[in-house]
Amino acid sequence: MAHDDLRSFLAAIQSTGDLVDIDDEVDWDQELAGIGRLGCERGAPSFRFNNIKDYPGWRIMCNPIATWRRMAVAFGLPADSPVPKLYETYAVREQQLVPPVKVKTGACKEVVIPGDRVDLFDLPVPMVHEGDGGRYLGTWDLVVSKDAKSDWVNWGMYRFMVHNERLLTGFPRPTSHLGKMLLDGYVPEGRPMPIAIAIGCDPLSHLAAAATFRIAGNEADLAGGLRQAPVELVKCETSELYVPASAEMVIEAEVYPDRVNQEGPYGEYPGYRSGEMGNAICARVTAITHRRDPILTLDTTGFMDSSATSTSISGAIAIQRRLEANGVPVRAVYIPPEGGVHLAIVSVRKGGAETARKVVDVLTVRRALISKVIVVDDDVDVFNMAAVLHAFATKCHPARGMHLTTYVGRANTLTPAYTQEERVSRSGASVAFDATWPPDWAADATPVRATLDSMYSPEIQRRVLERWKALGL
Ligand SMILES: Cc1cc2nc3c(=O)[nH]c(=O)nc-3n(C[C@H](O)[C@H](O)[C@H](O)COP(=O)(O)O)c2cc1C
Repeated sequence: MAHDDLRSFLAAIQSTGDLVDIDDEVDWDQELAGIGRLGCERGAPSFRFNNIKDYPGWRIMCNPIATWRRMAVAFGLPADSPVPKLYETYAVREQQLVPPVKVKTGACKEVVIPGDRVDLFDLPVPMVHEGDGGRYLGTWDLVVSKDAKSDWVNWGMYRFMVHNERLLTGFPRPTSHLGKMLLDGYVPEGRPMPIAIAIGCDPLSHLAAAATFRIAGNEADLAGGLRQAPVELVKCETSELYVPASAEMVIEAEVYPDRVNQEGPYGEYPGYRSGEMGNAICARVTAITHRRDPILTLDTTGFMDSSATSTSISGAIAIQRRLEANGVPVRAVYIPPEGGVHLAIVSVRKGGAETARKVVDVLTVRRALISKVIVVDDDVDVFNMAAVLHAFATKCHPARGMHLTTYVGRANTLTPAYTQEERVSRSGASVAFDATWPPDWAADATPVRATLDSMYSPEIQRRVLERWKALGL
């Protein structure tokens, strides 16, 4: 069963051994996040920090679904469920949208702080990495915004940095739906855009916020589908927006239509700090509401963080659907978390140069977030990186196997390999490595893989496997 709020999820991961309480004092200045960072790098349990220096009574938990085990528990599945099962669960549930329901009040309203009494430094906002531009409050959040001209409500996950007592600066990319709503709807009218930053909702609502979802699609419906139960929403105090009622905290704010402020740099999801401080959207907090004893959430962003797992699933399935819609004979797609969401593995029923070229073209036509794709034949399990690496190393022709495309204006500026100039002009490149056999090679001219399942008769395979079993291996 999916979880109604962060707390029931925490109880579940505690019972599976995937949450550790830390009661000794930790410093909000890098020490707390450093522990979470090492946790990501070592695939450790999540941590709940119960004693934060300078902030008695406050609690923070980190990296809610940064491991496949915690992701499985979030879906209501056994913690040791295999990754393909998690992908399959997401793919099925995302097709069954469930609209949210509105309720009168909720736990997130237990304490209401009006805008004129807000001081963001009253909150235990962590300094996540050395070299960050400031302290980050929104790292694992759910940001609600509404289109100026329609009923479209967007949920996204965008980072927010404390600029001063009442101002936040944030980094929704211009290509993000929040960025699009702001630039297309509110900026031309010179109107402030209301947003609500919800922190500590049920894990699948956050997964939905971070998912690649269609323009004009409401991620609240997707969250309901993933949860297999509607999300309960409650109205904000200072705007017409609705937020998950069970959130630990909600920061209501207005984005200025005519003002930017400095934000970043930040240790980023590809696993590097690679940007500079730059201009970003600026939001004035209009109210904060929270539970009486809130537990804040933190993504200790970097190598193998929560975006590595969450975007692995939602991104790969979005890629699969896009390739299918464009006639690519795709069988499966995997985004390995170790690749910092810069690498996708695509298996196809019919390989060759034409297919590889089409894959890279389709994936870069609008937003180009993935810069490298390995295309493999469908006898290669995309989730088995040993098999993928073997195919890549042996089947990709060093001269003819690369299919490159370059673009300007839509590159992912967080790609660490890009120069500062490329980031500014948003120019970049994507490449598909064709690790498939050319379809015009005759069967007897195509190398046969020297593995049990390829080079031996079914009869020998059967006998070997029986013997294997008898040996208790
Ligand atoms: C932990 C985490 C942090 C993220 N931070 C940002 C961010 O600061 N800016 C951004 O544009 N996207 C960020 N993303 C990616 C977006 O959440 C993702 O692209 C999502 O699809 C955005 O919603 P949208 O497509 O409705 O704009 C983050 C994702 C995760 C998992």
